[in-house]
Amino acid sequence: MNRFGFVIHPISVADYARKYPIARFLPPGLVERLGRLKSPMPVGEIRGIRSEATGEEVSGLFVVCPLTTRQLTEDPAERSLPRVIEAVRVAGEEGAQIVGLGAMTAVVGDAGVTIAGASEPAVTTGNTYTVATALEGTRRAAELMGTDLPTATAVVLGATGSIGRVCAQELADEVARLILVVRDRERGEALAASLGETRAQVSVETDLDHALPAADLLLCVSASAEALVHPRHLKPGAVVCDVARPRDVSVSVARERDDVLVLEGGVVRPPGEHVDLGFNFGFPPGLMYACMAETALLALDGRFEPFSLGRDLQRERVAEISALAAHHGFRLAGFRSFERALTDDDLTHIREHVAARRAAASQGG
Ligand SMILES: NC(=O)c1ccc[n+]([C@@H]2O[C@H](COP(=O)([O-])OP(=O)(O)OC[C@H]3O[C@@H](n4cnc5c(N)ncnc54)[C@H](OP(=O)(O)O)[C@@H]3O)[C@@H](O)[C@H]2O)c1
Repeated sequence: MNRFGFVIHPISVADYARKYPIARFLPPGLVERLGRLKSPMPVGEIRGIRSEATGEEVSGLFVVCPLTTRQLTEDPAERSLPRVIEAVRVAGEEGAQIVGLGAMTAVVGDAGVTIAGASEPAVTTGNTYTVATALEGTRRAAELMGTDLPTATAVVLGATGSIGRVCAQELADEVARLILVVRDRERGEALAASLGETRAQVSVETDLDHALPAADLLLCVSASAEALVHPRHLKPGAVVCDVARPRDVSVSVARERDDVLVLEGGVVRPPGEHVDLGFNFGFPPGLMYACMAETALLALDGRFEPFSLGRDLQRERVAEISALAAHHGFRLAGFRSFERALTDDDLTHIREHVAARRAAASQGG
C-alpha cells in the first residue's frame, strides 16, 4: 500500500495547552522556547482513503513540527527550515513516499523548495489542489448568491503568494475587475504585468480599507498570523473564501455580518467509506484540508513527485489535479463557515439579509 506523510504544527500556544495542560500557566514565550526543544514526532495515522477508480487504498501519517505560526513566520528561515526538514525525515522513516507541508511549514522560506532539496521522500505543499478547490467553492457560492462573475469585482488578498498568484491568474479571465491586494506595491505591479492581456481590468492595492469594500468576491490567501478582514470591510452580498490558516477573516464577521457569505476554503471529502484521520482538526469525520488531500491523491496515484513547490505554481496543473481528484473520487466538502456546515436555510437567510440591506440602501440613497 502506498503511504504519505503530512507535516502539521501548533497554530498557537493554545494548541500546546490542549496536549500539555500545564502550558496554560506558563508565559507563551516560554512555551514556545520549550516547544523548540522537542523533536518532530508522528501524531496520527490516516486510514481508509480508497480510490473510487482503482479500489486501491493509501495510508498516511501526520508528523508534528513543534513550531508555532509565530515562530514559523517571524523567526529567520535558517532557524525554522531544519526543523521542518527533520519532520519530513521522520515521515520518511515511517514509510512515507511523499510528504505534504501543512499551514506555515509550506510558507516558511522558499515555499518547500529547500525542504524538498534536502529530503529523501518527495515533497509537495499541496497548494495546487488548494487553489482548485478554493476557486471551485467560490464559483459555486457566487452562483448561489446570484453574483454574476463576468460583471463582478474580485479581490485577492495575499496575491503575491504561492496560492494567491495562481488564483489571480485564473480569476483574471473570469471577472470584470480584479484587485490584487499586496504588501509590496512593486511586486504587486510585477504580478499585474505578468498577467498580460486579461478579461479583467487589473489594479494593485496596498490599503485594505480601500480595496476590500469593492469586493463581490474576496479570496483570502495571506500568510498573516493575524486576522486582516473585519466587519467594516465587506459589502452586503460579498462572497468570501478564506483559505488562510490561521484565518484571514476575523470571527467578529460571523457575529456582526449576516449579509455576507464566508466560506472555509480548501476543505475536501476524500473517497472511502471509513476515512479516519486519527487527528482532530475540528472537522466532521471524513473531511480534510485540500493540501492534505493533494498529498493523499498523489500517493494514491503513485506519483511521488514535487507536484506543488515554490511561489510560481503552474496554472495548467490546477486543471490536472482537479481531473486526478475527480478520477479517484475526491470532492469539495459542502459549504462550511467558521467551523460549521452551512445549510440551505443559512444560505436563504443570508440572501434575505442582503436583499433587505440593498433595499434599505436604495431607499436611503
Ligand atoms: N486550506 C488549505 O487547505 C490550505 C492549504 C495551503 C495553504 N493554506 C494557507 O493559505 C495561506 C497562503 O499560503 P501560501 O502558501 O500561498 O503562502 P505564501 O506563498 O507565503 O503567500 C502569502 C501571501 O500573504 C502575504 N502576507 C504575508 N504576511 C502578511 C501580512 N501580515 N499581511 C498581509 N499580507 C501578508 C504575502 O505577502 P508578501 O509577498 O509581501 O510576503 C504573500 O502575498 C496560508 O495561510 C496557508 O496556511 C491553506
